[in-house]
Amino acid sequence: MSRLEKKTALVTGGARGIGLAIARAFREEGADVILTDVDAKNGQSSADEFGAIFRQLDVSSEADWQRVETEFPVLDVLVNNAGVTGFESSATGTPPAHDPEHASLADWRAVHAVNNDGTFLGCRYGIKAMRRNGCGSIINISSRSGLVGIPMAAAYAASKAAVRNHTKSVALYCASQDLAIRCNSIHPAAIMTPMWEPMLGEGPDRAEREAAMVADTPLRRFGTTEEVAALAVLLASDEATYITGAELSIDGGILAGSAATPGR
Ligand SMILES: NC(=O)c1ccc[n+]([C@@H]2O[C@H](COP(=O)([O-])OP(=O)(O)OC[C@H]3O[C@@H](n4cnc5c(N)ncnc54)[C@H](O)[C@@H]3O)[C@@H](O)[C@H]2O)c1
Repeated sequence: MSRLEKKTALVTGGARGIGLAIARAFREEGADVILTDVDAKNGQSSADEFGAIFRQLDVSSEADWQRVETEFPVLDVLVNNAGVTGFESSATGTPPAHDPEHASLADWRAVHAVNNDGTFLGCRYGIKAMRRNGCGSIINISSRSGLVGIPMAAAYAASKAAVRNHTKSVALYCASQDLAIRCNSIHPAAIMTPMWEPMLGEGPDRAEREAAMVADTPLRRFGTTEEVAALAVLLASDEATYITGAELSIDGGILAGSAATPGR
């Protein structure tokens, strides 16, 4: 377990879910890990669990990134994982509309501020911090939603499509600069994390809702955060030195065909 030995990695949104699993897996593979999140309480306790450094970082804040850059000017791996759907919280308890007809501009912008501005600012810092060694790996967590339209989560889908495309611009830019800084996007779908809680809800119908949500997934189950982390370890490692500008789906087969899999 030393595929990332002597590497320093920074993970955003690492307090829970996919980011936490990636940070833990990186540590297990020997990396020095800086786990960051807006959530200081859970971020600190998660980092303490496996010997990572915690720093509070709101990815949409340029000032926060500048603070991180001053403290950690050199980096080998960056995972831009922090993301929001827009359904997380609302004053009324009812999630705001996110369809293209009714979404408010403020709600649209709030999603883009984290998913899109956050990834842009992260990549900008990452390139600078990796330029010193002339190599490194930037991993952007996009989504299946960045590859298809999602009518009820239009801001999320558009932001994740932008993450996919920006990944390719970063990859080509770094190559054009003769830098061995790679940039790739991971496109998860249906990974069981706290992000799903507002959609799954509580009560006796939860199991039914869970089954309904993966009914169109060929593997008929939610993926685990560890499965996504394994892919991130590969992209972070020197086994992936010829992979750049790529988009890798981890979705139980959803995008392999149409939603309705014949024979089921
Ligand atoms: N879970 C899935 O099925 C799934 C599918 C596709 C894509 N994704 C993507 O994977 C990533 C992680 O998702 P998850 O399911 O683990 O979500 P999650 O909600 O469980 O965790 C997200 C983390 O990001 C942090 N965060 C939110 N806003 C932030 C900000 N402004 N700055 C820094 N941190 C912030 C949260 O505090 C939280 O710790 C996201 O980018 C998400 O869009 C997840």
